Amino acid sequence: MSFTMGHRRTNMILDFRANHCYVDGMKNNQAKKGTVLSGSTTSGDLTLGNYIGAVSQWTKMTEDYDAYFMVANLHSLTDHQDPKELRERTLSFYAQYIALGLDPAKCALFVQSMVPEHAELNWVLTNITPIGQLERMTQFKDKSENKKQINAGLLMYPVLMAADILLYRADFVPVGQDQKQHIELCRDMVKYFNNRFGDVFKEPAPLIAPKGAKIMSLADPTKKMSKSDPDKNGMISILDDPKVLEKKLKRAVTDSGTVVKYDENSAGIANLMTIYSVLTGKSYAEIEKDFEGKMYGHLKVGLAEVVIETLKPVQAKHRELMANRDHLASLMKQGAEAARAKASETLRLVYDHAGIL
Ligand code: TYM
Repeated sequence: MSFTMGHRRTNMILDFRANHCYVDGMKNNQAKKGTVLSGSTTSGDLTLGNYIGAVSQWTKMTEDYDAYFMVANLHSLTDHQDPKELRERTLSFYAQYIALGLDPAKCALFVQSMVPEHAELNWVLTNITPIGQLERMTQFKDKSENKKQINAGLLMYPVLMAADILLYRADFVPVGQDQKQHIELCRDMVKYFNNRFGDVFKEPAPLIAPKGAKIMSLADPTKKMSKSDPDKNGMISILDDPKVLEKKLKRAVTDSGTVVKYDENSAGIANLMTIYSVLTGKSYAEIEKDFEGKMYGHLKVGLAEVVIETLKPVQAKHRELMANRDHLASLMKQGAEAARAKASETLRLVYDHAGIL
C-alpha cells in the first residue's frame, strides 16, 4: 500500500514542481523509496555537528526519496530570540542548507513558518499527547533544569516536531542521535491518533548515521557539540572564519596521551578522529597510519586544514546566496508552495477524521 501511495505522492509533487520550474526533479518519474523530512532549529549558528549528523545525510537522499527539509524557525521561539537576528538567521540557515549541498530543485526546501499547517496540526496533536510523556523527554529535562520559569513551548516542542514529520507522512527522519527520543514519541503519537480518529498516519523511522551521529564539544568532549552552547570554543560554526576554526581546533580538549589511536574511552581524540574520518572518508585505521609517529598536535593541525578546506566553498556559496535576497526569497516561496501541497492534503484528512469543519 505504501508503495502505491508513495508513487501517487511522487507524481503529485512532480506535477506541482512542473508548475514551479523544479526542472531537475522532473527528470525521471520513477517511484521513490519513500518520504523523508528533517530540519534544524534556528536557535543559534548551524554547527559542524548539525552538518555531519544531519545535513550531510539529507543531501544523499534527495534523488531517491520525496524529500522535505526545513528551517525550523518556530521551534527556536522556545528560547528568547531577538526578532531581527532571528529573521536574518532564518535566511542564513536556508542559504547554508543550499551551500552545504541541498538542491532546492530536488527537494522541497522550506521555512517552517511559511507553511501554517505545521502550527495547525500541532494543535490537534497537542490534544492527544499525555503531558507526563512530554515531561519525561531528556531534552525537556535538560533545558528546564535550573530555570525559574518554564514556558509551555519548551514542553510542547516535541509535539510541533511530530506535526512537522506527520504533515508529510514521512517514512524516515534522518537525524543525529539526540533526536531519537523525540521520534519515538512521534511514533507513539501515531498510535494515539489512529486509535482515536482512524488510520491516517504511519509510524516514521529515525535514520541515524553509524558514524558522526553525536559530534562532541571541542571544549568538553563529554558533552554534545551544541549550537546553543554559551561556550563558543566548544562548537564549530559552518560560518566560522578560518582563523577562528584553526584556533578552536588547536585548542580542542584531549587527554594527556600522545599517540593518535581511536579509543572510545579517549573521548577528545575519538571525537577529532570521527570528524576527520567523516570529512575525508578515511577509516580510523587509515588515519592512525597517516599520523603514525606523530602527536595529537599534528592531528589537530591536519584536522584544521580539512575543516577549513571543507567549509571554504560552503562559505563562498553562502555569501553569494545572501547577496541576492530576491533570489533567496523566491526559492523560499517555491519551497513553501511545494511543501504546502502535501501539508494541506494531510491536514484536510486530519480535520475530516477529527470532525473539524
Ligand atoms: P537541531 O537543530 O538541534 O539539530 C539539527 C540536526 O542535527 C543533529 N545534531 C547533531 N548531530 C551530530 N552531532 C551533534 N553534535 C549534533 N547536534 C545536532 C540533530 O540530531 C538534528 O538531526 N528539533 C530539531 C529540529 C526539528 C526536527 C523536526 C528534526 C524540528 N522539527 C522534525 C527532525 C524532524 C532540532 O532541534 O535539531
